[in-house]
Amino acid sequence: MTDHDQVALQVSNINLSFGGVQALHGIGFEVRTGEIMAIIGPNGAGKTSMLNCVNGFYRADPGGSIRYKGRELRGMKTHDIASLGIARVFQGIQTYSGMTSLDNLMTGRHLALDYGVLSSLLYFGTWARKEEMKNRRRVEEIIDFLEIEPIRKKYVGELSYGLRKRVDFGRALAMEPDLLLLDEPMAGMNLEEKEDMARFILDVSEEQGTTMVLVEHDMGVVMDIADHIVVLDFGVKIADGTPEEVANNPVVIAAYLGEEEGD
Ligand SMILES: Nc1ncnc2c1ncn2[C@@H]1O[C@H](COP(=O)(O)OP(=O)(O)OP(=O)(O)O)[C@@H](O)[C@H]1O
Ligand SMILES: [Mg+2]
Repeated sequence: MTDHDQVALQVSNINLSFGGVQALHGIGFEVRTGEIMAIIGPNGAGKTSMLNCVNGFYRADPGGSIRYKGRELRGMKTHDIASLGIARVFQGIQTYSGMTSLDNLMTGRHLALDYGVLSSLLYFGTWARKEEMKNRRRVEEIIDFLEIEPIRKKYVGELSYGLRKRVDFGRALAMEPDLLLLDEPMAGMNLEEKEDMARFILDVSEEQGTTMVLVEHDMGVVMDIADHIVVLDFGVKIADGTPEEVANNPVVIAAYLGEEEGD
């Protein structure tokens, strides 16, 4: 059995409601180790809410389960979930605009370090300096990989939206995650920036074997990079399959057409 045959994340029967609004209705899906799984759907479909349930920002209604490598995540705190190697890139911009690109990436390393049980004891002295050098080396590798040397010392607030999103992605990579949750990493980018980001996502997947859940509004963007796609509409899962199966599914086509008419 290869790694790809193993289920990394298993979500079953998740419901989520906010007062009278039910954002998720009995959602279930599986993400295999090393795959790029995409969750797509129109605005308000429940994509972000689903990621929020996985990483503990939202507490789903009682019942159902979210298992990562066999471990139940329901009821766990956000930072305990992160310490299992689950990193998140948020919708919109989350970088620190008053810091340089380099420092933004270093915060990703320090976050990873904080999760170590012994980190506070080991913060001083030679060991800490060695750790810091290791962190710095890893961050330099990421800068190289994401082709952002020219902006490493620039304040993030001065950068274009596309570059800020790239730095944000780098910050998540600096945590060396096992499972990366990406919420619309390509939204607001021009075509060239989108293509670059798609290439980086594929390279991380191939080179590091990182399992990814990629939330995306635009179906076209994920067709080429996702191994498997789940489609949500009004909090209901309406399709689950290969990109080809999903793109040809009449229910999915109707959901997206309905959205265009509504706009
Ligand atoms: N914190 C919250 N409080 C109340 N309602 C919420 C909250 N978060 C999400 N919702 C509602 O849940 C539904 C799903 O929202 P969600 O943000 O998950 O959709 P989405 O698919 O990510 O949409 P988009 O493509 O616009 O990002 C919407 O009706 C939204 O208004
Ligand atoms: Mg969203």
